[in-house]
Amino acid sequence: MTDRKGFTLWFTGLSGSGKSTLAQFLTPILKDRGCNVEVLDGDEVRENLSKGLGFSKEDRDTNIRRIGYVARLLSRNGACAITAAISPYTSVRDEVRAMTEATFVEVYVEAPLEVVEERDTKGLYKKARAGEIKNFTGISDPYEAPENAEVTVHTGSETIEESAERIMSYLEANGLLAS
Ligand code: ADX
Repeated sequence: MTDRKGFTLWFTGLSGSGKSTLAQFLTPILKDRGCNVEVLDGDEVRENLSKGLGFSKEDRDTNIRRIGYVARLLSRNGACAITAAISPYTSVRDEVRAMTEATFVEVYVEAPLEVVEERDTKGLYKKARAGEIKNFTGISDPYEAPENAEVTVHTGSETIEESAERIMSYLEANGLLAS
């Protein structure tokens, strides 16, 4: 049994904004600080926990509720749960925030659409523009940017080290890391 304070780092942002990259970058840094880290990555969750779900609002909300449920179990047991799904809708983000028993830290991984479209790491924006993928977030489906995220990082204009530092500073300042 640990008396360490767990927390959820809830990343939200467009596809290609850098949520997964940042989660992977932060993992060893947080482990070095004694955190038990688990990453719930959007793509990985959709292969496992949410297999079969699509991208309608209803399916996305179901996906987010499932991720929120697991993050809640992890974080209340002292782990650091990092979630990396687009989570485009404010209402369900607020819902998982409200059900989390440990500290919930919403991190807006912000990057302009032009930037993520230019990156097009998975080639999906091109397909979405061509109409080959329907309801694509940012192109033909909404993304509701958070208005009260605890931390906002700008991956289009800052380095990954700077983004990570901003998140670590927040955790430090809020007593979520052992000194
Ligand atoms: S969420 O909306 O339910 O939070 P999630 O993060 O799990 O989305 O999945 C997003 C990933 O699925 C994207 O990074 C992309 O690779 C892929 N994807 C496939 N179709 C879509 C779509 N219509 N909109 C957004 N992402 C899609």
